[in-house]
Amino acid sequence: MSKQDSNLEPIEKASRDELQALQLKRMQWSLQHVYDNVPHYRQKYDAAGVHPGDLKQLSDLAKFPFTTKLDLRDTYPYGMFATPMKDVVRVHASSGTTGKPTVVGYTKNDIAMWAQLMARSMRGAGCSADDIILNSYGYGLFTGGLGAHYGGEFLGATVIPMSGGQTEKQVQLIQDFKPTVIMCTPSYVLTIADEMIKQGMKPNGSTLRVGLFGAEPWTNEMRREIEERLGIDAVDIYGLSEVMGPGVACECVETKDGPHIWEDHFYPEIIHPETGEVLPDGEIGELVFTSLSKEALPIIRYRTRDLTRLLPGTARTMRRMEKITGRSDDMLIIRGVNVFPTQIEEVLLKNPNLCAQYQLQVSRDGHLDKLDVYVEVRADLSSSIGEQKRREIGAEVKHHIKALVGVSADVHVVETDKVERTLVGKAKRVIDRRPK
Ligand code: DLL
Repeated sequence: MSKQDSNLEPIEKASRDELQALQLKRMQWSLQHVYDNVPHYRQKYDAAGVHPGDLKQLSDLAKFPFTTKLDLRDTYPYGMFATPMKDVVRVHASSGTTGKPTVVGYTKNDIAMWAQLMARSMRGAGCSADDIILNSYGYGLFTGGLGAHYGGEFLGATVIPMSGGQTEKQVQLIQDFKPTVIMCTPSYVLTIADEMIKQGMKPNGSTLRVGLFGAEPWTNEMRREIEERLGIDAVDIYGLSEVMGPGVACECVETKDGPHIWEDHFYPEIIHPETGEVLPDGEIGELVFTSLSKEALPIIRYRTRDLTRLLPGTARTMRRMEKITGRSDDMLIIRGVNVFPTQIEEVLLKNPNLCAQYQLQVSRDGHLDKLDVYVEVRADLSSSIGEQKRREIGAEVKHHIKALVGVSADVHVVETDKVERTLVGKAKRVIDRRPK
């Protein structure tokens, strides 16, 4: 048995049968818990003529109605909580793009489970108690900062609670505190790398060796860029506030083949986004989660809007999800062609002169949609690539976007710092100025 194997929790090595038996038991508990304690669920289930007792096997879950962000908005702020407020020790909230934020709550047990799963994620990513972690996810209502913080402490590592932003200071802390692990959004780590160059540091010469990046979609091309520039292993961590926060799923460093879902606490389904039909493993659709052990905010069949597919386990017996290509609400329709920002990212990063600082701007030119792509040249090449060369690169990339994604785009290759940067939180990849 390798050292890594001996550190695993027993459930990480369990057979599928053992895991499914645990899932069934927990799912029955979870359904009864919401039925007994959340009037919103009880009314929905009574109206649909289903009862927690109808769940005899895991596939019976398909009989129960979905939960969406709208359910959380309609019951704002605490209407979906299943425990009295005296047992809720923390709340978080996600803002979303419109309307009221979505509020989520945790009991002491929920916080402990979250810390354990974040620690499991970090261990999978190759971290241990020996590590010093620079936590550059935002602290506050966003789940990223505190979620990663408690996971790091649970693992026994040293956590530097830096939060997002103040990029110069991030670089200073990397130099002085010598962290071995960094946790932030994938777009932000590239901003940190650019700042290192500005300060005369070599991004691949730091003490960092692993990064856990998530909270926004990023491609394998972007992984390669991060790994190459910073000389680290870049691991994908997934999560969402409604289901827990970061650490619902995480890649293992030895395979880096899509996040393993911590299925002992979250049961995944893939559904057809329009019909709601459950699709078999391997087919792409919308990811749906049911929490199996959460007390304060149990969530049943939550529609994430994230598009992916379920794949068999590799480094662990638990199933994986393919790296997320986008959310159904991120999809742009440009002159009738469906486009995800990640498809454009993939093409841009095939060009060795470009980096993942990019933004898509969509407007209307007469009756036609117009797509402009702004992308920066790599910071370390910026001084050697003049305007003429940038125009040539733009024309070449335009051609590849047309050939591979199927849309016409004007590609503007710009100097470092000319594209709006992520300082805290998630990158703003799209500005859509079309009249509604
Ligand atoms: O972003 C939680 C998180 C924090 C995950 C830090 C990972 C690291 P929300 O703000 O509720 O929670 O946003 C959740 O972000 O439904 C996805 O659309 C997107 N997302 C999160 N992780 C990934 C990822 C946090 N690894 C929403 N890849 C989700 C792609 C991701 N998209």
